[in-house]
Amino acid sequence: MYAGVMKDNRSVSRLQLEKVSHSFGQVSVLHDLSLVVNHGEVVVLVGPSGCGKSTILNVLSGHIIPLSGLVRSEGVVRTIHQQDGLFPWLTVSENIAMGLRSMKDTAHRTKEVSELINLVHLEGFEHHYPHQLSGGMRQRVELARVLAGDSDILLMDEPFSALDYQSRLRMRRELIRLLQLRLRTVVFVTHDIEEAAQLADRVLVLSGRPATISCELLIDAPRPRDLTDNAVIEAMKKILKELGL
Ligand SMILES: Nc1ncnc2c1ncn2[C@@H]1O[C@H](COP(=O)(O)OP(=O)(O)O)[C@@H](O)[C@H]1O
Ligand SMILES: [Mg+2]
Repeated sequence: MYAGVMKDNRSVSRLQLEKVSHSFGQVSVLHDLSLVVNHGEVVVLVGPSGCGKSTILNVLSGHIIPLSGLVRSEGVVRTIHQQDGLFPWLTVSENIAMGLRSMKDTAHRTKEVSELINLVHLEGFEHHYPHQLSGGMRQRVELARVLAGDSDILLMDEPFSALDYQSRLRMRRELIRLLQLRLRTVVFVTHDIEEAAQLADRVLVLSGRPATISCELLIDAPRPRDLTDNAVIEAMKKILKELGL
């Protein structure tokens, strides 16, 4: 057993934590946490504030090397945060192109950027700066940036939580549509149980710090899912119960 990130192409899962423990000073945030995220799966993490959800994503992305345990990841990982992920001094096109900076062929890169702009419905805003966009539009630029290139693992840390309710619903629908166009492995953190029930193949409900998985819930229903679908309502009830709400 060792700490660190290992690229492993033989693994059947895309992401794996095995007995991962991490502390910040005296504060134990993760203790012997194990989880597997399979190829193409959308796993949603819910749990109390401060329990270690962002830390889990940072360990999965390799931004935090845990004190002990094993981290396996296979593929290109991109992270999207709640807000402020864009460079304010770059235009929409330039921000999206950041996701393609390893691509040397500039003509090809320009074409890719324009396809991504169409994909997230931002035609006409290519030369706008982030401050000239609404919150929902900024998160769509973020989506385009993380979808750029050959990213196949998306780590999403409350990406829509700063948006108003209607924008959140729209972004959820958008994400589902984009995942149907190209299968990606997703770990999504949210406080919003409605969002969890609409998006997830599997919801992991976490306990307080140090985070342990207190309940695992499979949602076997096709997407897009209406809020009034039985599977969504049942999942929401179970999550609420598990959170003690
Ligand atoms: N870089 C850090 N330095 C010190 N403490 C941290 C750091 N990052 C997170 N923590 C602490 O670890 C705990 C878990 O944080 P976090 O993973 O951000 O929780 P969540 O995302 O579930 O709200 C919190 O108590 C937080 O204060
Ligand atoms: Mg967090």
